[in-house]
Amino acid sequence: MEQTQYAPSKPNLPLQQQEQITAAARILCEGGVVAFPTETVYGLGADVTNPDAISRIYKIKQRPIDHPLIVHIGAISHLDYWAQAIPVSAWKLANHFWPGPLTLILQRSHHIPDSVTGGQNTVGIRIPAHPIALALLHALGQTKALAAPSANRFGRISPTTATHVQQELGSSVDMILDGGACEVGLESTIISFYDESPRILRPGGIALSALETVLSGPVMLAHNTINPTIRTPGSLPAHYAPVTPLRVYPAEQIRQHALLLAAKNLRILIMTWSNIDTSQLSGQSIEQCVMPADPIAYGQQLYAKLRQYDQAAFDYLLVEAPPDHPEWLAIADRLQRAGHHLSDNHKII
Ligand code: TXA
Ligand code: MG
Repeated sequence: MEQTQYAPSKPNLPLQQQEQITAAARILCEGGVVAFPTETVYGLGADVTNPDAISRIYKIKQRPIDHPLIVHIGAISHLDYWAQAIPVSAWKLANHFWPGPLTLILQRSHHIPDSVTGGQNTVGIRIPAHPIALALLHALGQTKALAAPSANRFGRISPTTATHVQQELGSSVDMILDGGACEVGLESTIISFYDESPRILRPGGIALSALETVLSGPVMLAHNTINPTIRTPGSLPAHYAPVTPLRVYPAEQIRQHALLLAAKNLRILIMTWSNIDTSQLSGQSIEQCVMPADPIAYGQQLYAKLRQYDQAAFDYLLVEAPPDHPEWLAIADRLQRAGHHLSDNHKII
């Protein structure tokens, strides 16, 4: 993804958008909740320093209150206002990747209230790379920031357009800023500096290899068991899930499973990225969606496609397993969680 530099002194947004941003900033300062675009997914924002506004986010999302929120800031110079004891390697990553899809988990400063972190003494912070998000943060100034989870109900698919937010949260939010479709389409990479060495809590918009290059050393993926006192809903097995049961199969199995289900009169969507021979499937109750074979383009489209097909009354979404390659890590992670239904009585395949 192209890195744009934050330039607060000359926001070059159209006048109408600037007016909307000013209105949004006012709503936020008065304790309101505003959905806004980032380069990853849409966020549901509230003033970090206002516990009532923060509690509204939890209510709207139906999210358990002990799951912490990411704090979005407008400039690197604000980082040590919100966090403390920041390791050199965290500064390196911030300088290299911000604004961008990278969240740093750091020790929080006393400016971060308990309501944002679920009482934990760490805080997740990032600078988003979207001109509207940056202009909004600039309008709020250094002593305010936006606590913002993805603007979806807890456990569901993150929104990548303003229409998705409107459909899912609608009138429960005070304002939705429309910044078009998100460029990255998957959530930020989360890296924790809480342990001795940095660990990835959630693969995302920044590839592991890019982090390793900047840090000149290996970066480990955290296992969910690593610190059971740290709660990350994005790392629950069932998350980012459509309502329609979703299953991930290797290319060589997907046709066979589709045919088996179609024979039971079920409507099936198969989502592929490779050249699978689908000649046998024609005439069956099976539709096919061919995704890009490139992880960046695939990631951009994934959530929008899952939403679209989730609303199309299929009985199953069968997804071809992504390539076993580090660049596909975030996609593999989301598909695995999307396929893991908590209360799933569809175990017929
Ligand atoms: O791309 C993104 O990160 C988007 C956009 C809106 O910025 N935000 C997002 O927020 O995905 P959310 O709340 O849906 O996911 C944030 C993840 C959660 O899994 C949360 O538990 C984790 O970050 N998190 C936040 N603070 C944390 C902390 N102090 N320690 C560990 N995990 C934390
Ligand atoms: Mg989320």
